[in-house]
Amino acid sequence: MAKIQAIRGMNDVLPDQTSAWQYLEKVMRELLSAYAYQEIRFPILEQTQLFKRSIGEVTDIVEKEMYTFEDRNGDSLSLRPEGTACCVRAAEQHGLLYNQTQKLWYMGPMYRHERPQKGRYRQFYQMGVEAFGMPGIDIEAEILMLSRDLWERLGIADVLTLEINNLGTAEDRIRYGEALREYLKQHEAALDEDSRRRLDKNVLRILDSKVPATQALLADAPQMPDHISPQSAAGFAALLDILDAASIEYVVNNRLVRGLDYYNGMVFEWTTDKLGAQSAVCSGGRYDGLSRQLGGTDTPGVGFALGMERMILLLEELGRLPADTGRTVDVYIAVIGEGVRRQALMLGQEIRSQLPGLRVLTHCGGGKYNSQLKKAFASGARVAVILEGDGELAEIKLRILDDDGETTSLSPASLCGWLSEYFG
Ligand code: HAM
Repeated sequence: MAKIQAIRGMNDVLPDQTSAWQYLEKVMRELLSAYAYQEIRFPILEQTQLFKRSIGEVTDIVEKEMYTFEDRNGDSLSLRPEGTACCVRAAEQHGLLYNQTQKLWYMGPMYRHERPQKGRYRQFYQMGVEAFGMPGIDIEAEILMLSRDLWERLGIADVLTLEINNLGTAEDRIRYGEALREYLKQHEAALDEDSRRRLDKNVLRILDSKVPATQALLADAPQMPDHISPQSAAGFAALLDILDAASIEYVVNNRLVRGLDYYNGMVFEWTTDKLGAQSAVCSGGRYDGLSRQLGGTDTPGVGFALGMERMILLLEELGRLPADTGRTVDVYIAVIGEGVRRQALMLGQEIRSQLPGLRVLTHCGGGKYNSQLKKAFASGARVAVILEGDGELAEIKLRILDDDGETTSLSPASLCGWLSEYFG
């Protein structure tokens, strides 16, 4: 019978990879806590309508990428393709947005039926940050500072570039959209098929087109900054001032519109040239209209999400994972002969209870001493504790694996004291 395989574009994270994930998660959790953000968790499945009304009907995500199905009640449900809409839905539903501000984060899998390639998957993990109830540029600057702090803590700040743009107010967007449409209508025949389809429904997305002929047309098109209201432009300039003061370098990219429709005001992407085509590792912006669009209160919102697989790829590719990532065992208890199996298990318990910081692996399942020792070396353990004999143990042998296997022996009673000193 053929073996069943995982779904294309959905990855298993194997034991030798999980320590890199745990490292990334730990650094993120510590940073988010330092900024006083709180974690929120919401379901992986939501009503399809939630994403249609937030991300937008004429977007790649909603048109082609959602995993949508009818459940047994005939309701249309979708696996979440992103977290912002879910976060707004949850915060609104539980009254978290009523006369309050919130600084929230989440982590978990998202689902998009895209063509899988390096850095692009159908199930991928995001860590997202959403701040609610705060208009103005201070919170915008703060989330950019938070993201830059994260790159610094991970040691990857040197390979990331911040691209930023101002989409203006909702009215600015409409006005600019009309000007752009009017121009592009005159050149409709020269547009690629996707762009032609977007002309009436989502004209700003054409700015993102990678088709050279469309790019060429856009060079002479009306420009976004000329259609931004003075107040919004002044706010954006003040935001850039703060970034300058915080020594955060940026590139203003007036074509950056993002693939989700809920944004207004500032939008941004942190990109890298180290991951091939999938260059965006973290993206976000302001979305003041979203809560109301979903039938809730009029609450300003701003946030970002980063792709965790892309972060891990980057850390691996640049060799920026800490040297001991992957080491999961400190002490390996080897067992020679059936007579000391029980003692080995008890000794493992004792070390764990007396020295709770140590990671202790008791060898189970039998096998020759040499093969146990090989396993001990491979596990990254620094010390092998060797039990041999029948019943009572007068002496325990130790092999210092750090030191290419130098051996020594001591009494069982002095083992924990010895380990405590050795591991400092
Ligand atoms: P997004 O740009 O669609 O924005 O996704 C955010 C990040 O998720 C991307 O920068 C990328 O690193 C990662 N990502 C997206 N698609 C894939 C994929 N197929 N495979 C691997 N990684 C991927 C959002 O999702 C917004 N909710 C961000 C946001 C939060 N805006 C405001 N708050």
